[in-house]
Amino acid sequence: MQADADPNLIVYFSGQYVPLKEARVGILTHALHYGTGVFEGIRAYWDEPQQDMFVLRQWEHYERWQQNCGILRICVPPPAELCEITLELLRRNNLRTDAYVRPLAYKSAERVGVCTDNQDSFAVIAMPFGAYLPSDNGLHAGVSSWRRIEDNAIPPRAKICGAYVNSALASDEARQCGFDEAILLNESGQVAEGSTCNIFMVRKGKLITPPAAENALEGITRYSVMELAHRELGLQVVERPIDRSELYVCDELFFTGTAVGVAPVVRVDHRPVRDGAIGLVTRKLRQLYFEATRGHLPEYFKWLVPVYKSLKTQQQHEGSLLKGNAS
Ligand SMILES: Cc1ncc(COP(=O)(O)O)c(C=O)c1O
Repeated sequence: MQADADPNLIVYFSGQYVPLKEARVGILTHALHYGTGVFEGIRAYWDEPQQDMFVLRQWEHYERWQQNCGILRICVPPPAELCEITLELLRRNNLRTDAYVRPLAYKSAERVGVCTDNQDSFAVIAMPFGAYLPSDNGLHAGVSSWRRIEDNAIPPRAKICGAYVNSALASDEARQCGFDEAILLNESGQVAEGSTCNIFMVRKGKLITPPAAENALEGITRYSVMELAHRELGLQVVERPIDRSELYVCDELFFTGTAVGVAPVVRVDHRPVRDGAIGLVTRKLRQLYFEATRGHLPEYFKWLVPVYKSLKTQQQHEGSLLKGNAS
């Protein structure tokens, strides 16, 4: 579990940069009672050799946020403006360590009654943030007794605040049962995802993950890992439903997510995954993801925006963008 954030951290709230301790909402705020908010999670990684920090795929995160806010009819500024706020926040806090950015848009009317109106607010918080799960030696995951919410109840493709009761119940149950993380099945009994992450298995040489239609979030890390697996490892990537029992017979298993990165699972429901060691594909993808997100792989500079704009990185970054535009 992460430590409480520093109350003097500068956050963006009600259109201003203010200390966290001054960013307060009223007790009647609509989102607090009814879960009517949409959040995002973005990583920024510090790279010691380059003495710079890289925000990972922020444009895609803000595009997803804007689209998902639309589900609740919440208006947020366009991605370009939000990207600027994010860079400004990281710089104002002079963060020089791995960090996490949490944008939150919410229905902000202070009154009782579930019906929504057009009073929307948003905030962006950037904080130091280390590993979310202790995954270096592999995780022990357990299938949850809670089912993943359905698209026709609360759309799981969006990070809707109220929907995270589902994740919190599953995550709490997993920890009470001695697991590191939960795996949620959907109402059809097939694997959906983890409580805050997508899931992949390696079986018979293929990399397999449930499609979003199985009630999984359309994870940005998921897409990044699919790209790395295909381009760098030449793996066939398949989106198809996964049975619960396939978790027990697969060759490798791992979670992906902004917070967890690529997190190996070595035991499921007290059964070892294969021989209980981290598999080769998982190991390689984890390493590739690490290198790509810290600006070590020119091919993936397109995913990153440098925060302190070290000249070398910026030039390389612009070079790769030009190359990308030319092709
Ligand atoms: C339920 C759920 N699934 C999957 C993910 C992973 O998505 P992303 O890779 O975009 O962070 C998250 C991230 O928070 C999540 O909350």
